[in-house]
Amino acid sequence: MHYHYLDTPVTILPHQLQGFFIGWSQPPTPEKHHEVLRKSDYCILALDENNRVVGFITAITDHVLTAYVNFLEVLPEHQNQGIGVQLVQRLLEKLHGIYAVDIICDPELIPYFESIGFTRAVGVVQRNEKRQAGF
Ligand SMILES: CC(C)(COP(=O)(O)OP(=O)(O)OC[C@H]1O[C@@H](n2cnc3c(N)ncnc32)[C@H](O)[C@@H]1OP(=O)(O)O)[C@@H](O)C(=O)NCCC(=O)NCCS
Repeated sequence: MHYHYLDTPVTILPHQLQGFFIGWSQPPTPEKHHEVLRKSDYCILALDENNRVVGFITAITDHVLTAYVNFLEVLPEHQNQGIGVQLVQRLLEKLHGIYAVDIICDPELIPYFESIGFTRAVGVVQRNEKRQAGF
């Protein structure tokens, strides 16, 4: 499969965003997903030959010192083909070597991120489950 990448969601429509947020009890609708893409400071998308979005990364940043990767996901049937690494590398290029780039991830993904230049850290989070879908 050949993939292509976009660094803006402006040409994307919600119906191209299907199958994401796996494991979420109340996943956002494609419309809410689209809003996340539009409102993030950076958004890079991987699309297949049928123009279906198969992976995406978003980040928010102060454009001075820090950036936070709010989402990174590749659809299961397209995983392990280098799309995730491509999305992270393309985002890092956009961030121009900014001081801090932070990602919260599950423990089993730490070796994955270490292999592409990240360092293990400790964090705390707060989640309001009632607002998981964004409403
Ligand atoms: C993490 C994720 C984005 C990786 O995307 P991908 O396109 O499959 O990754 P790549 O093809 O670039 O890299 C594949 C490598 O990552 C490793 N990897 C992928 N998912 C993994 C997981 N859940 N646990 C451990 N390793 C994982 C693979 O073993 C593979 O390693 P290898 O190249 O040494 O064989 C994808 O698995 C995903 O969407 N997961 C669910 C959402 C998620 O956890 N996102 C991260 C939140 S920060």
